Amino acid sequence: MSDILKKLLEILPSKDKAKLGILAVMMLVGGFLEVFSIGIIAGFVAVVADPGILFDIEPLKRVLNFLGIETSRDILFYGAIFLIIVFLLKNAYIVFYKYVKARFIYHRYKSISRKLFGIYMNVPYSFHLRRNSADLTRNVVTEAKALATNVMLPVLEIATETVMILGVITLLFVVEPTVTLVTIFLLGGVSALFLKVVRGRTKKHGERALEERARIIKTVNEGVGGFKDATVMNRQNWFTKRFEKSVDALSRAEIFRQAVKATVRPVIETIAVLGVLLIALLLLNKGYSIGALASVLALFVLSIQRLLPAINSIVGNYNSLRYHAYALQPIYEDMTALKEYEEKKREFVKDKMPLKESIEVRKVTFVYPETKEEVLKDVSLSVKKGSAIGLVGATGSGKTTLVDLILGLLEPTKGEVLVDGKDIKESVNEWQENIGYIPQFIYLSDDSIRNNIAFGIDEEKIDEKRIKEAVKAARLDEFVKSLPEGLSTFIGERGIRLSGGQRQRIGIARALYNDPEVLVMDEATSSLDNVTEKFVIEAIERLKKERTLIIIAHRLTTVKNCDTLYLIKKGKIAAQGSYEKLLENKDFKEMTDSGK
Ligand SMILES: Nc1ncnc2c1ncn2[C@@H]1O[C@H](COP(=O)(O)OP(=O)(O)O)[C@@H](O)[C@H]1O
Ligand SMILES: [Mg+2]
Repeated sequence: MSDILKKLLEILPSKDKAKLGILAVMMLVGGFLEVFSIGIIAGFVAVVADPGILFDIEPLKRVLNFLGIETSRDILFYGAIFLIIVFLLKNAYIVFYKYVKARFIYHRYKSISRKLFGIYMNVPYSFHLRRNSADLTRNVVTEAKALATNVMLPVLEIATETVMILGVITLLFVVEPTVTLVTIFLLGGVSALFLKVVRGRTKKHGERALEERARIIKTVNEGVGGFKDATVMNRQNWFTKRFEKSVDALSRAEIFRQAVKATVRPVIETIAVLGVLLIALLLLNKGYSIGALASVLALFVLSIQRLLPAINSIVGNYNSLRYHAYALQPIYEDMTALKEYEEKKREFVKDKMPLKESIEVRKVTFVYPETKEEVLKDVSLSVKKGSAIGLVGATGSGKTTLVDLILGLLEPTKGEVLVDGKDIKESVNEWQENIGYIPQFIYLSDDSIRNNIAFGIDEEKIDEKRIKEAVKAARLDEFVKSLPEGLSTFIGERGIRLSGGQRQRIGIARALYNDPEVLVMDEATSSLDNVTEKFVIEAIERLKKERTLIIIAHRLTTVKNCDTLYLIKKGKIAAQGSYEKLLENKDFKEMTDSGK
């Protein structure tokens, strides 16, 4: 419990902690009002039994006389009015407090999920290489909400009710210590016993539920994402079965939680009825008069009636807390470990980092996080402004890794990537702003062609002229013209309504939208047939004149016209030079023979 509180406080921004302070004060006031209202009723009962007692208290008598309250009738009448006013005010306050509390909780949901998504969008690329997207989706979508409503809210509820219970018990203790002790023992003991019984299983189910929530998202993503493969291979059942298994486990956990929640009240209520009878007996035994008995019994009945839902709420919330506490763990871990990325707001990096002379990869060695193997070993190469280089080599030789380092997506383990002698690490956003990147698999969203080319820009801020230029340069213009809705045509999720070549050219247009000086292509044409590839290569040829190109290619024809070719072999540059010169290399020759 204290561990949960510590972690919660750690992920809350300091502004929220001040709000929490205000909430705590409001909580205390609410607790006091509850106790006060109970005391007043008990007092009222005593007065009803014997109105004269008020006149026995000398200072009070003077006040009452001053107010013109002289008879027992007056006392009952004004007493009733006073009672009503107190309850009205108290309940109005309680409603207000609940509203403030709900607001606090849901605003935390907003701020935590927003912050977490911000972190996931701003972390280095290497983070996403290690993490499954289903976990991240779950954390942002369901766990952040669970954290607010099922962890923070219960903590507040427990605190609120505890304050109230302590107040009521203090009042009771002042009036009747022995009977109070019996009450505490009964109600407290039974609640504690109940919690002990369900504790272990609640914890187990809670842990399980967290896992299954991620597995459900994962299964849906993979099943729907791999629909074509799954259908052709007839593997649909594997996905539906796996889904069912997760939903089943999650349901069982939820059923257990609900059942426990529903059991709390009846158990405590039964004890309470027994308790009240016991208290009446105890009081009679002590020789109370009927009037005093009525008053004290009223006090206890009212208190227990108020304590019941409070204990109910504490036990229920404590359980919910144990069940959902696991939502806190992944969020806490990511929010503390990745804190530095939280405020890295790169709205729009306006300034491109220009390329004046050359890009230089200097003695770069790279090891992927959590692995040992050196994927690149002491690689050095230099790309002059306005030139085109081609990277070739077998799959797994390290081409993509090398390009990701140049893109600033990954940071070298040793060595550096320099642009005009300056390490790109220092202004990686500005550097990226000057690069157009065309990956092998273009990520397309279910949106219009226009929005896919501009990508991540509000529709009204899209520069139509630049779109037109990019479309033309990517040789996409004829295709767009053939569509009835032109650039506004929707292309389906992941571009499902496009052919491979069309997708690739949208990728090229996207890379060109920013009008970058450097273009990086990672096997951008490998998945294309020869004719389509020719079109794309033609597009590339035209781009070559004014830009610096770094091209990874599978087919050597694609890079034949590059100024320098690098043959990468097992993380090292095995040979470099023009196409003709490289033909002398054995490995390279093998590639040309088989890969034509
Ligand atoms: N995220 C990763 N974590 C660990 N190893 C990786 C990761 N990505 C690639 N590798 C390894 O790095 C090596 C080079 O991969 P890559 O650069 O993609 O090669 P290429 O693009 O030439 O096919 C391969 O052995 C691959 O298994
Ligand atoms: Mg690759």
